[in-house]
Amino acid sequence: MDAQALSATPAGSPLAPGVPDIRYAVAVVEPDPRLRMMLASRLPTAQQFESIEGFTPVVRTGRPTVGVFGPSMVNAFGFEQVHRMVTVYPDLGPVFAAHSLSTELLQHALRAGARDAVQIDATGEAVAQAVARVGEVLSTPQRQNAASAPLPGASALARTTPGRMVVVFSTKGGVGKSTVATNVATAMARKHDDAVSLMDADLQFGDISVMLGIPPDHTVLDAAASIQYSDPELMRNLVTRLDSGLLVLPAPSEPKMAVAIPPEDMSAVCAGLQSISAFVVVDVPTSFDDTTLALLEAADDVLLVASMDIPSVKNLKIGMQALDLVAIAGPKLKLVLNRANAQVKLDVREVEHVLGLRAAFPVPYDLAVPLSINAGVPVVTHDPRSAASRAFEHIADALLGPVAGSGKRRKGLGKKSKK
Ligand SMILES: Nc1ncnc2c1ncn2[C@@H]1O[C@H](COP(=O)(O)OP(=O)(O)OP(=O)(O)O)[C@@H](O)[C@H]1O
Ligand SMILES: [Mg+2]
Repeated sequence: MDAQALSATPAGSPLAPGVPDIRYAVAVVEPDPRLRMMLASRLPTAQQFESIEGFTPVVRTGRPTVGVFGPSMVNAFGFEQVHRMVTVYPDLGPVFAAHSLSTELLQHALRAGARDAVQIDATGEAVAQAVARVGEVLSTPQRQNAASAPLPGASALARTTPGRMVVVFSTKGGVGKSTVATNVATAMARKHDDAVSLMDADLQFGDISVMLGIPPDHTVLDAAASIQYSDPELMRNLVTRLDSGLLVLPAPSEPKMAVAIPPEDMSAVCAGLQSISAFVVVDVPTSFDDTTLALLEAADDVLLVASMDIPSVKNLKIGMQALDLVAIAGPKLKLVLNRANAQVKLDVREVEHVLGLRAAFPVPYDLAVPLSINAGVPVVTHDPRSAASRAFEHIADALLGPVAGSGKRRKGLGKKSKK
């Protein structure tokens, strides 16, 4: 057993990559020396312990500590030991590091009081990022004030009012729903000082993670498996944070994993995101199933996306009648006419007349859109001066309304930093 000294950095200051954060301690607990060294190699300040018993005196000091529990601890006995520890020492933030991660394992880990569970990757990046995230949360003043709150399930960091929910829907596939959702959400995140989230509720064919060029790390499936905890800290750990500030909860990469998540669980996941964000943008599938209807009903704003072709407009007309029947209509419906300048005989005014709805947001056909999708970057980032980007920025401004921030980057939540 050996312990390394912690180096000094002023608390709260932005840290350069690789510079250790002294606001919290880090420890690796793993009986296998090879695995222990491997895990500690990416965590410069980590103390190493071969057993829980050796680690206990560290947490007893009351200093916020991220405990990384290695693969040998990822079993029923390890979960039980960790659970006992977090119950007694609320300043411990456990992270399980497993050889492979499943939703079931994540659920067991969370039930044991873990703040996260990650898969060990070749670079050790995933573990290092999880430690930074959990350490950040453990050392925030709000959490320290709420140290007496029971874990897991501390709701001290929940927003007082839930964020506004924007559902992006269409009655026909392929009209640009996901393009609208990713770009509008990215633009909103950049403009707003508070958190903005994007949830991919298209569990079968969701491609938000591809469009944003991120691996589907923790997904809606993981969030649904842990919603019983209603823990905003946990939700912050599950989302992937992008450089734009956007917090993303992608759909599972394997459609077969989209085993029916009950509508109430999907709504609860959305509510979880609303508890940590000022706005939640949701990309829903093209279907009138119970989940979609529940999300549409709960939405504050619905962006109805249609393209400028007769089948799309016809489907939308029928779809709007169906929406009317389930009382999802009125001012919250906003029509986004995508590819509004397409070389077709349809005229925007004609479409508005047929639908009885003003085309609040026309988005032009723009080659910059497919180019950005192929690059795995939203067009508002990839080609901000393109005509499509300007249209998406306009939609973001309208949704943010007078609450929009200064346009500066918001303060970090210490999330995974990608793209
Ligand atoms: N304004 C635009 N200009 C040019 N191409 C666009 C535009 N909007 C969307 N596209 C293209 O249309 C295709 C479909 O878009 P997208 O995947 O966003 O549609 P969707 O409605 O989410 O589809 P699905 O029903 O499969 O979920 C994309 O390949 C994208 O490049
Ligand atoms: Mg889509």
